[in-house]
Amino acid sequence: MLKFFQFIIFLILQILFLPFAICGGLLALYFEMVVSRKLGVSFTAEQAIQPRWTMHYFAVRSDPNTVAFMKHLPIESHLGFLGMFGAALLANRICGYIPSFTQIPEYGKETLSSFICSRTVLFDQIMERYASEVEQIVIMGGGFDLRVLQLTRDGSANVFEVDQEKTQSMKLETIQKAGLSNDWITYITVDFREESWVEKLLEHGFDQTKRTYFHWESVSLYLEEDVVRDTIAKMSSLSSKGSILAQDFYAKSFIKGETYLMRKAVQLVEKMGEPWLYGIDMSDDVKTSIEALVNEFNFQALEVSQFGHKGKTGKPFYAISVCEKV
Ligand SMILES: C[S@@+](CC[C@H](N)C(=O)[O-])C[C@H]1O[C@@H](n2cnc3c(N)ncnc32)[C@H](O)[C@@H]1O
Repeated sequence: MLKFFQFIIFLILQILFLPFAICGGLLALYFEMVVSRKLGVSFTAEQAIQPRWTMHYFAVRSDPNTVAFMKHLPIESHLGFLGMFGAALLANRICGYIPSFTQIPEYGKETLSSFICSRTVLFDQIMERYASEVEQIVIMGGGFDLRVLQLTRDGSANVFEVDQEKTQSMKLETIQKAGLSNDWITYITVDFREESWVEKLLEHGFDQTKRTYFHWESVSLYLEEDVVRDTIAKMSSLSSKGSILAQDFYAKSFIKGETYLMRKAVQLVEKMGEPWLYGIDMSDDVKTSIEALVNEFNFQALEVSQFGHKGKTGKPFYAISVCEKV
């Protein structure tokens, strides 16, 4: 009953705010699709932080750094976002309304519209746990993720962040404009398709004897299978015993666009020049598939979380694994 009442309040406000929502949406789309393409910056890196913005504004997960960052990000319109979500935000302040796409569903009941929120919160927990335990952290394909600014500022671990050049340089400029501090982090431009990323990491002071946490969130699906395998092999050979790799996997059916919504997402990322290339078979036991892969590279799976297996189809479409170097 309460949810119905909240939705009615939202609906009334949304009708009143419709011109703002349309103008805001168009403005946001222009920056994230047209400007990002023009500047050659990762569209999907920007997409990955949008749920962090909405979760913050709807008080689901606090992230003031991402809000400050998005205000200055050249491929995002903060005003556009406020216009798009103005009615929902007002309904939230009046009666506690929270749109379904920004709620954290029950484990296993994640959907295509909510799973990025669940993914973000689960990776938060994983990074928080290991950031205080390890001596060295590598954020692989960091995009516009700002978690390390919060979680590693005590300086107890050496932190490296690697990504492609244009995306990383926009991140650094935006961090500066937003007045955030990051001077303890070593940023390195890499391409996982090129051998030299390992050498670059070593040249910048990566220590192979230190227990390391590798964070590889939402990157492998943009790489060819041989590059994914090669990157895991390299992380393994760089790591000392007990090092940790946190990584995610998408189902093959997801990246091929099995449902209507998935097909639309596939078309969008292809249009934006970042096609999905790598997925694993999730039709059978997901943990076994992941174990079979990582065991080849001397990692053992400590935990595997699957998303969507309690949903309508009963099939998982996404998984996060935490593996340890043995
Ligand atoms: C969806 S974003 C995820 C960013 C970040 N991990 C997060 O969760 O917010 C994908 C990231 O992978 C990076 N990436 C894609 N292909 C890459 C490659 N060949 N080498 C290095 N980074 C790559 C992109 O630049 C982008 O920052």
